[in-house]
Amino acid sequence: MSTHGTLPTVDVHLTQEDADAALRADAHRGLTSTPKVLRPQWLYDAQGSELFEQITAQPEYYPFVAEREALALGADEVARTAQADTFVELGSGSSTKSTLLLDAMSRTGLLRHYVPVDVSAAALEEAVPGLVAGYPDLDVHGVVGDFIADLRSIPAVGRRLVVLLGGTIGNFEPEDRRAFLTALSETLSSGEHFLVGTDLVKDEETLVAAYDDAAGVTAAFELNALTVLNRVLGADFDLDGFDYVAAWVPQSSRIEMRVRARRAMTVRVPALDLTVEFAEGEEMRTEISTKFTRAGIAAELDAAGFDAVGWLTDPAGRFGMTLARRR
Ligand code: AVJ
Repeated sequence: MSTHGTLPTVDVHLTQEDADAALRADAHRGLTSTPKVLRPQWLYDAQGSELFEQITAQPEYYPFVAEREALALGADEVARTAQADTFVELGSGSSTKSTLLLDAMSRTGLLRHYVPVDVSAAALEEAVPGLVAGYPDLDVHGVVGDFIADLRSIPAVGRRLVVLLGGTIGNFEPEDRRAFLTALSETLSSGEHFLVGTDLVKDEETLVAAYDDAAGVTAAFELNALTVLNRVLGADFDLDGFDYVAAWVPQSSRIEMRVRARRAMTVRVPALDLTVEFAEGEEMRTEISTKFTRAGIAAELDAAGFDAVGWLTDPAGRFGMTLARRR
């Protein structure tokens, strides 16, 4: 059956109600902890997704371009090594990159199944039909699910190559990263492959500029988390009361993105029956972006039961992609 312009199968493992409840629980935990912290999921409403698209077009934000360069150079090598008939993409929305891998996997003559997985049904419906229109014989099986929390939502069909692009793994805390890699390893069979993109450690100036672009797009993106809290939880954050800060934290090898209160403020959050105090200068973390080394990510993969069997990078060596094989 042709899959032209349609998304024939979508399994829903996560309803909007589940997602909303998880976000409310996270906000309660994060707004009452010290220091205050939010999950990056708060960033990606319609406005946030639009702002993230704009971030990828900023001259300072090199990871997007660098990963595409790495894939353009190495997708065929990945496809030849993986020998997979099923492409499982965790998180959608990077369609030109997906195409590079789909094309390379088509060239091996093995590709049969494409399984895009995303927490957002809307994102799948928007991105996937156009993407797969060029592959009339591809069996497309979308999954709406939270792959961080529930890898069982990934169907066991064929011999799989699972990919996590964009440096998304850099968003995870170390414990969450370890848990995710271990769960993924347990989900896969021996000989199946995982391709993971990681932004690499480099000079502080380049890193901070990538997360604090001159046009202020990243600042608007991170501050949008407060707008989302206002809309979803009825909170009364004063958007003019906060600045945006991007800080390189070498001990954790990561950029931390934070909003900082310009003055002392009391914020009401009716949906959580909560009142939150901010001191002048107090910071709340909205996102982290961990930076890796080739040896570091290989060691983490090894600890989870994978062998690193391939490495892709852009010509300037800014962004790395590790191809790992389940032992
Ligand atoms: C989508 C997690 C890869 O960490 O570079 C970019 C998110 N936030 N600028 C990253 C992000 C602000 C991005 N990831």
